[in-house]
Amino acid sequence: MSDGQGVFISFEGIDGSGKSTQARQLAERLRARGHAVVLTREPGGSPGAEEIRRLVLEGDPDRWSAETEILLFTAARRDHLERTIRPALAAGQIVICDRFADSTRMYQGLSRGDLRALVDQLHGLMIGREPDLTVLIDMDPDIGLARAKGRQGTEERFEDFGPDLQRRMRAGFRALAAEFPARFRVIDGARPVADVAGSVLAAVTPILPERADG
Ligand code: ADP
Ligand code: TYD
Repeated sequence: MSDGQGVFISFEGIDGSGKSTQARQLAERLRARGHAVVLTREPGGSPGAEEIRRLVLEGDPDRWSAETEILLFTAARRDHLERTIRPALAAGQIVICDRFADSTRMYQGLSRGDLRALVDQLHGLMIGREPDLTVLIDMDPDIGLARAKGRQGTEERFEDFGPDLQRRMRAGFRALAAEFPARFRVIDGARPVADVAGSVLAAVTPILPERADG
């Protein structure tokens, strides 16, 4: 690994699939085992990136062109990487990130034309780092959307896109997992929280450093 002894884990999946819930559960379980864990999220995860989060998630769905949106998400990611992720990895910590570059490959790469090549080019130039392991929480978009709609809030630019987009995103994420099988673990999210958390822990354990509590 290029960033010290740390381990970088991302969670991906459609809106409402349980990523945030599972990222939190994993952080708790690993901390209980004595690991130093940084739990973070995208867009956001550093003060500057959290400011960009408001620009991309609030307001009219047509607020930004597809290309501008790719630049904004990548700018947020660069700041997050510089200020939060790289320092934590260099200090030997486990970084658990709720969404990372695969979300840009899907949401910006697929939703408004085929911009995947552009996303990948910008990623290569400005980010150049993939997670060591990516947990894809896979589930039927109808369940995910119903769960996500249960939350009240102003961050609705993408959820407003509706079930068709979520279906394409699910298929896209599964295709991405097939494209990068060494890094991805696909986990069925349509089960009770504790069952999903057990599968996540089993998937992650093989790449963890020696347990800090011996
Ligand atoms: P995401 O981060 O993928 O959008 P969340 O973790 O925020 O998903 O979960 C969306 C909603 O579904 C939340 O209200 C959460 O409490 C609920 N939820 C999460 N996991 C499960 C599960 N396995 N079964 C039932 N409800 C769940
Ligand atoms: P998130 O807060 O993870 O929402 P949810 O909990 O509903 O999954 O992400 C907010 C939205 O941002 C989500 O709809 C996906 C979108 N997004 C992108 O479009 N591109 C990106 O690169 C990232 C990280 C997120």
